[in-house]
Amino acid sequence: MLQQKLTFAEQVADVLKVPAEDIVEHLEYPPNPDLGDLALPCFRFAKTLRRNPADIAKDVASALAEHPAFARAEATGGYVNVQLNRDALMRDVVRTLQSHPEQWFSRQRGQGRTAAIDYSSPNIAKPFGVGHLRSTVIGQAIVHLLEADGWRVVGINHLGDWGTQFGKIIVAYRKWGDEAVVRANPVRELFSLYVRFHDEAEKHPELDDEAREWFKKLEEGDAEATRLWQWFIDESLKVFRAMYHRLGVQFDHYLGESFYNDMMQVVVDELRSKGLLVESDGAEVVDLSAWNMPPCIIVKSDGATIYATRDLAAANYRHDQFGADTLLYVVGAEQTLHFQQVFKVLELMGRSWAANCQHVAFGMMKYNGERMSTRRGKIVYLEDVLDKAVAEAKRIIEEKNPSLEDKDSVAEAVGIGAVIFNDLKSYRMHDVDFRYEEVLNFDGETGPYVQYTHARACSVLRKAEATPGQAGSVDNLVDVHDAEWRLITVLAQAQEVLERAVDELDPSLIARFLLDVCHAFNRFYHDCPILSAEAARDQRLALTDAVRSALAYGLHLLGLKAPTAM
Ligand code: ARG
Repeated sequence: MLQQKLTFAEQVADVLKVPAEDIVEHLEYPPNPDLGDLALPCFRFAKTLRRNPADIAKDVASALAEHPAFARAEATGGYVNVQLNRDALMRDVVRTLQSHPEQWFSRQRGQGRTAAIDYSSPNIAKPFGVGHLRSTVIGQAIVHLLEADGWRVVGINHLGDWGTQFGKIIVAYRKWGDEAVVRANPVRELFSLYVRFHDEAEKHPELDDEAREWFKKLEEGDAEATRLWQWFIDESLKVFRAMYHRLGVQFDHYLGESFYNDMMQVVVDELRSKGLLVESDGAEVVDLSAWNMPPCIIVKSDGATIYATRDLAAANYRHDQFGADTLLYVVGAEQTLHFQQVFKVLELMGRSWAANCQHVAFGMMKYNGERMSTRRGKIVYLEDVLDKAVAEAKRIIEEKNPSLEDKDSVAEAVGIGAVIFNDLKSYRMHDVDFRYEEVLNFDGETGPYVQYTHARACSVLRKAEATPGQAGSVDNLVDVHDAEWRLITVLAQAQEVLERAVDELDPSLIARFLLDVCHAFNRFYHDCPILSAEAARDQRLALTDAVRSALAYGLHLLGLKAPTAM
């Protein structure tokens, strides 16, 4: 409805002596659709115009009266209620969605902008748990949203592939490891070696010295240490990549923490020459007390650089090498302080773009109501969750539609879609709970429900033997039924929803929008005959096709597949 709002605003800007953009924000959807499709309360303009709101409303209404986009404009009290030209809007919605859904969703506001987005970023030799799933899924959806709005996006996987834990894993592997076992199941085996190391080190503290020794060798480029380290990464990446493939996730770059090893010195030197480094208990830190933050440690007392130092180097790299003007980090809320510190240090280093760095935080993932913890050994592996969701989807499909072709690939799309949608449908800062029965409920507010509604629209087109994208016609419209109109007004909000989702980096707005489209479509499907309609058949088929297109596009934005039959 953004277009209509803009037209409204431009039409009355002169009367109100306010720029059109400011008026758009004040336009409302009347609570009762009988009053109209859009309303403008005029009270807030009374003061500057020195006129009473009712008079202003009258002038606004007459400024709108002539315009073809509006069928009726009425002043009541201090309000202007407007009825849109339904035929014009219906034609516009349906034709654009049928041919170019991406245009219906976006004005390409991001042209010329580049965002580097850091997401997923799991740690080698630690499990890729359901918790890490959140960053992956939210990050990928944000990539799609920004791209849809015209941005150039560089997706980066900042793998945790460096740190003292590698000394431990090397020691553990050399003592208790087995090559074939690691090859067969790298992520789990490396993690269990890591856990075993900790258990044994409690009894034999000398193991910790050995681990330090091996990490030192790794830092010095020792051939055996490097070979093992690289091999652990390669094996783990095979598993991660397979998972990304199933989730439909793609990165432009895998640049792990180790990639920045030879850029550390430059960062340290610059901080030192700018007088930002102070000594503290043998470590070198940036004092942030003036901003009520603990110091940002740059070099530890043993001379090693740490997580934050790498993030400083990585930020510079992303800005300089990728030309990114905006840096996004999709990482759990527990790292909020870390990012506040890093961004502050960048600012102190004089990076003007530090203001465009944003931590896109999210809440916790609970599993059947329980918090997961690596330490307590309560790990839920993502691949198990995906497999189980797919198996459950398959069972439901067997039950509902045993003759469906391609059951396995549909079950994969639905099972995985259920997991993704569950993660995206609530505001990202909220904790999400994961329960199979809920995420796979075909009638709930779920991925399968949206996919099922999409498949239903496809099936209507198949029965009509119509080609998707070209079904029916809105050339000759007959009376638009209330349920049709309701559906149109929902579809008409696509652009403002996408813009808000981009501005707030919040994919849940798209998920809610898709659910609204589904509710409105299912109401329409229930209330209005489509194939058996007479005069309205063509327009309803076209509308069904528009819904199909909007749902397919919206599902794609969230990273879900849209099977045409279920
Ligand atoms: N590997 C880290 C973790 O799992 C997340 C990295 C996030 N990205 C970053 N640039 N710090 O906790």
